[in-house]
Amino acid sequence: MSARHSGRGTIAPTQQGRGLGKALVARTEGAIRAAGGRRVYIETASRPQYAPTQAFYLGCGYRQEAFLPDFYAAGDGKLIYGKAV
Ligand SMILES: CC(C)(COP(=O)(O)OP(=O)(O)OC[C@H]1O[C@@H](n2cnc3c(N)ncnc32)[C@H](O)[C@@H]1OP(=O)(O)O)[C@@H](O)C(=O)NCCC(=O)NCCS
Repeated sequence: MSARHSGRGTIAPTQQGRGLGKALVARTEGAIRAAGGRRVYIETASRPQYAPTQAFYLGCGYRQEAFLPDFYAAGDGKLIYGKAV
């Protein structure tokens, strides 16, 4: 198997902005690499409500790989980010 899919990641609102999300991403990347994975893809919505999440992924070293317009709803596409680990 060359790819696996995982679920959503959410930090409780009262705990956001304290480095927990970044640590969780780093730990997940380490586990994926230890299991033989070499790339990680993360996806989120393109609507403005998710601008902080988009900034978070860029801050974790991810680059946008794809944009699927109107994926979730009209005017709300899917952004896919990737990173070599
Ligand atoms: C997105 C989320 C996982 C980030 O986790 P977090 O613990 O709040 O983020 P961290 O404190 O680890 O921040 C890490 C980096 O992301 C960036 N970042 C985080 N929140 C940001 C914000 N609101 N605006 C801009 N940048 C932000 C920072 O640049 C930070 O970099 P730094 O280390 O240089 O300071 C978390 O806010 C969350 O669960 N949000 C709601 C649910 C969600 O959007 N989940 C993803 C669905 S696809």
